Amino acid sequence: MNIISEQTSMLTITTERLILRPLTLNDAEAAFEWTGDERVAKYMIYSTHERVETTREWLRTVKTTDTRFEFGFVRKSDNKLIGSGGIKLLDDGFWEFGYNFRFDCWGMGYATEASKAMIELVRSRYGNVKLKAECADENTASAHVIEKCGLHFVGFGEYQSYDGKKTFKAKIYESR
Ligand SMILES: CC(C)(COP(=O)(O)OP(=O)(O)OC[C@H]1O[C@@H](n2cnc3c(N)ncnc32)[C@H](O)[C@@H]1OP(=O)(O)O)[C@@H](O)C(=O)NCCC(=O)NCCS
Repeated sequence: MNIISEQTSMLTITTERLILRPLTLNDAEAAFEWTGDERVAKYMIYSTHERVETTREWLRTVKTTDTRFEFGFVRKSDNKLIGSGGIKLLDDGFWEFGYNFRFDCWGMGYATEASKAMIELVRSRYGNVKLKAECADENTASAHVIEKCGLHFVGFGEYQSYDGKKTFKAKIYESR
């Protein structure tokens, strides 16, 4: 993980294959490729975006602060935005991370690479913080990512989509 820009609002880091940089309104069309894909939204707390305007509205709300880092994930090889995610401080002192990627980019280790970089970033700023991550019980790929980031399963929970229409049994993971 290399820090390219350290200023919070411009926070940009790189990994072997990815650039993690702030999202902007100009990313709407590229992001809609996954926000508008029901295969990606299936276990997410947002519902599949029907129109690119919904993605634009979401992008207007995305903001990085000192306790919440939000990123677009750009693939270095073609400079394309292929996913987004973030890591944020929860009230209980844990830092929780999450991610989602364009369907045609799954299974290539990008989520693990991006998550490890976000964890390293937070630890470089704040020391050996405690980590948390949660995924739907059925979301095997996400569970693998979380485990590859070194977290361990601590129990089951539940989460609901923003619109209250979807409820998922969740697996909760924490760092030791
Ligand atoms: C979850 C997600 C981010 C994973 O991204 P990714 O870049 O494919 O993840 P990685 O390649 O780093 O790792 C995926 C791991 O899961 C495994 N995997 C992938 N699909 C799987 C499946 N259907 N069943 C079992 N394992 C699966 C991969 O083999 C890999 O594990 P391995 O390295 O031990 O072989 C991606 O599938 C996604 O965007 N899903 C939709 C959004 C989402 O669910 N986000 C998480 C919400 S908690």
